Amino acid sequence: MFDIKAIKVELAKVANLEQLDLFFQTYLGKSGSITLAFKAMGSLSPEEKKSLGQELTQVKTQVTEAYESTQRALSADQINAQLNADIVDSSLETADSEQGSYSLLANVRRDAEEICKSLGFIIEYGTEVVTKFENFESVNIPLTHPATEMHDTIYLQDKDPSGENFILRTHTSSMQNYLIQKHGLPLKAVVPSRVYRYENMDAHHDVMFYQLEGIVVDKGLSVAHFKDMMEKLLSALLHKKVETRMRPGYFPFVEPGFEIDARYEIYDPATGKKELSKWIELLGAGMVHPNVLKVAGVDSDERSGFAFGIGISRLAAIRYGIKDIRYFTNGDLRFAKSFA
Ligand code: PHE
Repeated sequence: MFDIKAIKVELAKVANLEQLDLFFQTYLGKSGSITLAFKAMGSLSPEEKKSLGQELTQVKTQVTEAYESTQRALSADQINAQLNADIVDSSLETADSEQGSYSLLANVRRDAEEICKSLGFIIEYGTEVVTKFENFESVNIPLTHPATEMHDTIYLQDKDPSGENFILRTHTSSMQNYLIQKHGLPLKAVVPSRVYRYENMDAHHDVMFYQLEGIVVDKGLSVAHFKDMMEKLLSALLHKKVETRMRPGYFPFVEPGFEIDARYEIYDPATGKKELSKWIELLGAGMVHPNVLKVAGVDSDERSGFAFGIGISRLAAIRYGIKDIRYFTNGDLRFAKSFA
C-alpha cells in the first residue's frame, strides 16, 4: 500500500526546509496520505482494522523517524550556513590599518619588571604626586639641606595637610619609606616608574624619565651581598655578562653611598677581536641610611639594607646603542617603527 523505500528515496531528494515541509504535508500533515489512510479505516471490520492499523502504524513510525532525522540535518546545515555568512574576516586589512606596538622604553621597562619578578622582587609603582616629606625628609634630606637643590623640583599649586606644596617626585627613592611600611620586613621591592625634574633637555636629560628603584632590607645584609646582586641584576637587565665597579658617591639616604659602573665584553666585527668596553656609569646606590630605617620604624641596629636607582632610559640607550634619550619620548615614528 505504501512503498517505504520509494518514500525514503523521495525524502533523500529533499534539499531544504521548504521542500521538507512539502514532504510533510504530502504524507504526515492533516491531509497527508498516511493520515488519510488512518481516517479511511473507520469503515472496515474490526479484523481488517487491526491488521491494517498495525501496518499503517509501522509505516507512520518509519516515515516520521526518517522525516525527523532529515529535519535535524537540514536545520544544522542551515545554522552552519548562517554562521559562515556572518563570520567577520579579521585577516582582511583595511587600507589605512597599521599595527601598533609597545615603545622601546616600555619594552625595556616590561623586560626589567619580568627580570626583577624572577629575582623575587615585589613591583610597586607608587604615585607621581608626592609630599615634600616623602620625596625629601623621609629619605634623610632635611628641607633646608642643599641636597634638595640637587633635584630641580616641579611644584604643584595644591598643598598637603602640613601646608607644603605637593610636588612631582624627583626620584623613586620617595617610595622607600612607603614600601617598608606597607610590606614590612624582610623587604625586596622595585619601583619601575616615572620621575620628573625641572631640567634643560639635552641628549642625556629629560624632564620626565623612568627610574628603577630597588630596596632590600633584612637581617645581616652587607655590601658583599649587594655587589653580588647588582652584578646579577645588571647582567640580566643588559642581556650581557657585566662586571661592576663601585666608587664612593654621595646620596643622603645611603651610607656608604656608591656610584656603580659596569663594563662588558664587546666584539669588534672589523677586527674580529673581543675587548672590554669602557667603564659606564650606570647608577647610584648604597646601604640604606639608619635614619631612613628609623623614619620607617625599623631598628637600624638589627636590620640593614641596600638601595639602588637606575635610569631605565639609560639602560635602554646602552642596550640598543642610542645616543640621544629624547628619541624615546618625542613621538618620532621613524624611530618607533625601527624597534616595533
Ligand atoms: N635617588 C637617586 C637619584 O635619583 C638614586 C639612588 C637610589 C641612589 C637609591 C642611592 C640609592 O639620583
